[in-house]
Amino acid sequence: MNIILLGPPGIGKGTIAKMISAKYRLPHISTGDLFRENIAKKTKLGDEAKKYMDAGKLVPDNLVIDMLADRLEKTDCKNGFILDGFPRTILQAKALDKIAKIDVVINFEASEKTTIKRLGGRRTCSKCGHIYHLENMPPKKDGICDKCGGRLYLRDDDKPEVIKQRLKTYNELTAPLIAYYSGKGLLKEINAEKTPKEIFEDVVGVLKQ
Ligand code: AP5
Repeated sequence: MNIILLGPPGIGKGTIAKMISAKYRLPHISTGDLFRENIAKKTKLGDEAKKYMDAGKLVPDNLVIDMLADRLEKTDCKNGFILDGFPRTILQAKALDKIAKIDVVINFEASEKTTIKRLGGRRTCSKCGHIYHLENMPPKKDGICDKCGGRLYLRDDDKPEVIKQRLKTYNELTAPLIAYYSGKGLLKEINAEKTPKEIFEDVVGVLKQ
């Protein structure tokens, strides 16, 4: 099963991807996470990507496509994968068409007010990457990850001025993918104005089809 999760920044793609990954034992491939790993390791790719990410812009297509193509060649993708944050442009989608056959594209929908609130309150574990929210999914102990004891941090691109630019970038460059995949008959819409558990149940319903 090759799945794409589509939707604006902060809508909850990563949260639901982890739940799908655990249930169906499919690798969760987030291009944002791959870039953040490169940034942490101070690689050349990480240095280049950081400039765009901190500005709320997309990393150039060629850099993302090469990185994703390498990741999809790994053996854990043999029986399927979940793509979170890729593709983000029509050019990326066309490149993906040449590398893999996609079975379903799940598009999450919620108001901009909801996504801004989710992004502003997000805290991420610096050690294991687990995602929290100050109000919706708070850790038991302030600033500390329940799972591994790591320190929670606010992503540089979750600051208000960058959030605004990320949403603008999404509307201009990524939203056209909805029509692209709808035209291919692959698109399934999911209402993301619910709890993660409810959204996950809806996604499982779609995947069962
Ligand atoms: P990336 O890391 O992919 O960021 P994003 O798509 O903007 O998505 P987010 O990770 O911000 O949000 P999400 O939808 O996963 O929400 P989450 O589950 O965390 O990309 C970052 C940057 O990398 C890009 O801006 C770009 O520069 C670059 N990049 C990456 N891929 C690229 C590509 N293909 N091409 C070019 N550049 C690329 O949830 C958010 C918060 O809400 C959390 O706190 C969570 O706890 C909470 N929450 C989640 N679900 C719910 C719910 N149902 N109810 C209440 N709270 C919820």
